[in-house]
Amino acid sequence: MELFYRLFAGFYDSLDITYFRNYEKSPRKALLDAISENDRVLDLCTGTAANAIRIASAKQGQQIVGVDLSAEMLNVAKGKIKRAGLKNIELLQMDATHLEFREHSFDKILLSLVLHEVDESVANQILAEAKRVLKPDGEILLTEWEPSSHFLQRLLFLPISLLEPKPYRSFIKKDLPSYFESLGLRVQSVKHCNYSQVFCLKK
Ligand SMILES: C[S@@+](CC[C@H](N)C(=O)[O-])C[C@H]1O[C@@H](n2cnc3c(N)ncnc32)[C@H](O)[C@@H]1O
Repeated sequence: MELFYRLFAGFYDSLDITYFRNYEKSPRKALLDAISENDRVLDLCTGTAANAIRIASAKQGQQIVGVDLSAEMLNVAKGKIKRAGLKNIELLQMDATHLEFREHSFDKILLSLVLHEVDESVANQILAEAKRVLKPDGEILLTEWEPSSHFLQRLLFLPISLLEPKPYRSFIKKDLPSYFESLGLRVQSVKHCNYSQVFCLKK
């Protein structure tokens, strides 16, 4: 998987230009709307920090921690944060299956477009760690792909289905609410966005 991100880091952000071009209907906007001013936010598996940057730019008083395993993705993120002149994002290279934070550290944890790329045992571990570091009344805001029923959008989504790593094929067939509940996470709401859905989960 690390090779996958090393290869794709440079043009990962074309995803936003293609699928999330309509910002109002994008999961990026749904996440921004779900964050309150005083929330301590963790962007788990932040990648190129697409979500962290949107939030940090819109809410300058907000402190956001972004973690990722891939040095290449973090390098792209660092460049973008520097160019945007943002001082309120801290990036850390860290494995999401072994987070170096105390329990109950964050109000909101973002986990965006990650679980479909990893084996189920890794996904379970990432969610267990997210649950551990989430405050008792905190929320996990989890974005995942949701193939559209519109013909044209299904056609445009083909490259995603073909290029995604192997776990995608079984993940996309999962009953996600039942899966989350089996891990002790209650689904509070689901927002349907372009090509994707955003779950709000509580423990
Ligand atoms: C498809 S990208 C999503 C990036 C970002 N969250 C977004 O919404 O654009 C998936 C990211 O998960 C990271 N990742 C995968 N497994 C990880 C792990 N065990 N610990 C930390 N990061 C991980 C990858 O390095 C990659 O940057």
